[in-house]
Amino acid sequence: MAQSILITGASSGIGEALALEYAAPGVGLALGGRDAARLEGVARACRARGAEVVFHVGDVCDRAGMKAWIEAVDDCRPLDLMIANAGIDATDADPAERTYAVFAVNVDGVFHTVLPALARMRARGRGQIAIMSSLAAWLGLAGSVDYTASKAAVRVWGEALRRRHADEGIRVSVICPGFVTSRMTAGNRFRMPLLWPAERAARVIRRRLARNRGLITFPWPLRLAVYVGTLLPQRLVDLLTARLPRKV
Ligand SMILES: NC(=O)c1ccc[n+]([C@@H]2O[C@H](COP(=O)([O-])OP(=O)(O)OC[C@H]3O[C@@H](n4cnc5c(N)ncnc54)[C@H](OP(=O)(O)O)[C@@H]3O)[C@@H](O)[C@H]2O)c1
Repeated sequence: MAQSILITGASSGIGEALALEYAAPGVGLALGGRDAARLEGVARACRARGAEVVFHVGDVCDRAGMKAWIEAVDDCRPLDLMIANAGIDATDADPAERTYAVFAVNVDGVFHTVLPALARMRARGRGQIAIMSSLAAWLGLAGSVDYTASKAAVRVWGEALRRRHADEGIRVSVICPGFVTSRMTAGNRFRMPLLWPAERAARVIRRRLARNRGLITFPWPLRLAVYVGTLLPQRLVDLLTARLPRKV
C-alpha cells in the first residue's frame, strides 16, 4: 500500500478528493496547488483523518521550483505514488496566447512534476506515477481545442512511459475521467452527461491504481462513445461534434 504520496492540484476538485481518499494514519501526503487558503484547508482535513501532511504553494509551470519541492519531499519520505493531477481547461488569456497557457500547465506542468519523481523512482527501482488526462483526449473538439490536444499529449506520453519503464519496477497509469464535479466543471452551462461526484472518481482511481491499471477510464458509457467516435469517418465526426457547446 502506498505510504508516501504526492498530489498536484490538491487544493480542489479531483485532487482534493484524492488527498482525502488516501488520507489515513501512517500515510504521508505532499499536496500542491496555488491557492494557499484552499490547500491549507485540504491539508487540515487530511490531518484530521490521521495523515501526515506537507503542502507546497506553487505553480506547476515553475520547473525549478517543482523539482526542488519534489526532491525535498522524496528526501524526507521516498515517494511510493505521485499523481500529476493539476490542470486547467481554459484561460482568460488572449486567444493567441491561450494555447501556450493551457499547454504550459497541462503538458509542461506534467513534465515538471513527473520527471523529477521518475528519476528518483528509477534510481531505487520502484514507484508509481499517475497522470491525469481526460476522456476528451481522443477527439479534437472545437469547443476546447487546447484542452483536448494537451490531454492527448499527456495520455500518449504516459502510455509510452509505462511501456518504457515497466521492467524497471515503475508503474505508470493514465487517468481519463468523463465529467466530474469540480471547480473546473462548475462554470459549465451545458448538460454534462453522467457527471460523477469527485469522491466517487477518487475511489475508483484509487482502486484501479492499486491494481496497476495502465488506462483508468470512467464512466464506461462515455468511454464507449469516445471509442466509437474514433472509429467513425472524420467527416461524420465533424458533423456530430459541430453542435457541441464551446467552453471558450
Ligand atoms: N472535472 C472534470 O470533469 C475533469 C474531467 C477530466 C479530467 N479532468 C482533469 O482533472 C484534473 C483536476 O481538475 P478538476 O476537475 O479537479 O478541476 P479543479 O477543481 O479546477 O482543480 C484543478 C487543480 O489544479 C490546480 N492547478 C491549476 N493550475 C495550476 C498551476 N498552474 N499550478 C499548480 N496547480 C494548478 C488547481 O490549484 P489552484 O486552484 O490552487 O490554483 C486545482 O487544485 C485536471 O487535470 C483536469 O483536466 C477533470
